[in-house]
Amino acid sequence: MCGIVGYAGTSSAVADHGALDVLIEGLRRLEYRGYDSAGVAVVADGAIHARKKAGKLVNLENEIAQEPLPESMTGIGHTRWATHGGPSDGNAHPHLADGGKLAMIHNGIIENFAGIKAELLADGVEFLSETDTEVAAALLGKVYAEADGDLTRAMQLAVQRLEGAFTLLAVHQDHPGVVVAARRNSPLVLGLGDGENFLGSDVSGFIDFTRRAVELGQDQIVTITPDSHSITDFDGNPAEGKEFTVDWDAASAEKGGFPSFMEKEIFDQPAAVADTLLGRADAEGRLTLDELRIEPEKLAKITKIVVLACGTSAYAGSVAKYAIESWCRIPVEVELSHEFRYREPIVDKNTLIVSISQSGETMDTLMAVRYAKEQGAKTLSICNTNGSTIPRESDAVLYTHAGPEIAVASTKAFLAQITATYLLGLYLAQLRGNLFSGQIKDILADLAKIPAKIQDILDRSGEIKDLARSMAESKSVLFLGRHVGYPVAMEGALKLKEIAYIHAEGFAAGELKHGPIALIEEGQPVFVVVPSPRGRDSLHSKVVSNIQEVRARGAKTLVIAENGDSAVKDYSEWVFYVPETPTLLMPLLATVPLQIFACELATAKGYDVDQPRNLAKSVTVE
Ligand code: M6R
Repeated sequence: MCGIVGYAGTSSAVADHGALDVLIEGLRRLEYRGYDSAGVAVVADGAIHARKKAGKLVNLENEIAQEPLPESMTGIGHTRWATHGGPSDGNAHPHLADGGKLAMIHNGIIENFAGIKAELLADGVEFLSETDTEVAAALLGKVYAEADGDLTRAMQLAVQRLEGAFTLLAVHQDHPGVVVAARRNSPLVLGLGDGENFLGSDVSGFIDFTRRAVELGQDQIVTITPDSHSITDFDGNPAEGKEFTVDWDAASAEKGGFPSFMEKEIFDQPAAVADTLLGRADAEGRLTLDELRIEPEKLAKITKIVVLACGTSAYAGSVAKYAIESWCRIPVEVELSHEFRYREPIVDKNTLIVSISQSGETMDTLMAVRYAKEQGAKTLSICNTNGSTIPRESDAVLYTHAGPEIAVASTKAFLAQITATYLLGLYLAQLRGNLFSGQIKDILADLAKIPAKIQDILDRSGEIKDLARSMAESKSVLFLGRHVGYPVAMEGALKLKEIAYIHAEGFAAGELKHGPIALIEEGQPVFVVVPSPRGRDSLHSKVVSNIQEVRARGAKTLVIAENGDSAVKDYSEWVFYVPETPTLLMPLLATVPLQIFACELATAKGYDVDQPRNLAKSVTVE
């Protein structure tokens, strides 16, 4: 997830700002989307002038202060959350092509960039970065000649060759006053001004300058000049956008109109899962985890996996244990990073350490990974932050593509981590021959349906919010789950503790009779995550019995069950149904109502859900 802004204006129309002012202001507002590097390119005096710098926007501003840009009324700006290529000056956008005549910025992932790059290399094109974006820029440069110097036509020709998700913005030295953009499965909004027009990843990219905006459709190209805009599809046929007025203030615009980053991030989850899946399998359903960097022969010899993580990331690891053991028949241990190295763990060269960390900077996990490496284990990092320390120090990395997570309480990173562990499990099963290719293809097809199913839950969030508000005075909430529902229950409890400061505990439902049931008294709220009735038959009926047991002792039973599960109805005060999915994938759905519940309850109590007391987003001390 990156932030993108584009501008075309005339100095006669606006006396108080030039392109650079608009770009920097837009990037400041979009920095929540990515902040590992930033860059701008402007068109002036028949040339492209670009500046880019790793790190936060302030680094770019310092760079421009040292080496000022010429006055310009046309430009593009980018703030990056790295996917292909680590965060560095070289990988920062814009990328130049065609001998520096054009500049391009990009949000998304171009799945087929490797093939196009090979073709361009054969043509003699030189690349300066590791990014897929530079490949798209070079492709645009190549087809520009075929389009007889028509930049919009060239963009049409270029995007017809691209697969994946992308928003691309380009400027060319021969077209002052023109910005051309294309979008597929990645956001882009057009802003309309008087004698100036804007483009942004969202309206916060231009909210300081105009409130008139146009929503663009999928697979559309838009060309802006100071006093015109035109929209087409990828074949050049005219298309329409939908105009609307932005009625948010600037602060809520950054949160997409949501009251908090946490709520926004909960609603980002269909994209977080879809983006993490993107580009990881070929058309035949064969997983191609090119970034893994451990030779397949070595991975095939693994005899044990140890997952190391803390907090929410450790619960993602617990879900992974069920999936990987089931698909690959390799033993998987899940251990809190801070416990691991103090107990002389048994690991060797045939152990695969899988660390899971949103930030990639959690000190406990970093120390545990270093310790495991010293013992000769292979280390693989599942991480959301490109270029952070843990993936840098690991033998291999599998990035999640959730985009930056701003709220302290992890939500979209959790779902993206689970998704990545599924990909890893399927990849190992493919390598080791534990699953037939048809089985892997079927699971990938089920995973591909998950984003729409999460959206279905989000569309019904009102039911959960009503419940949460009615429970704002609760003193304690318990969560029960079994099998993959157990880590979901733990995560539901953690969310409530973290942001609503309510005592909450998650238990394995089977453990109830071994102690926790003594906690149940009249009115005690108990969430129960119920496995699918279509799954292992005994599991479902055992959890339904657990609901009856706590209800008989006065508990208020709040149930998350699968669509069509009529067995739970008679024993529940409240039921929320999630769409059907295979049992192992269920955490990607069942977690979402619990996140919404915690977020709404904490909001109803008047707490700052984004920055809960005593907590830091990244725990960089042991
Ligand atoms: O950045 P990491 O994933 O390594 O962070 C691990 C935990 O600190 C983190 O998941 C924490 O538990 C969150 N606040 C949970 O919402």
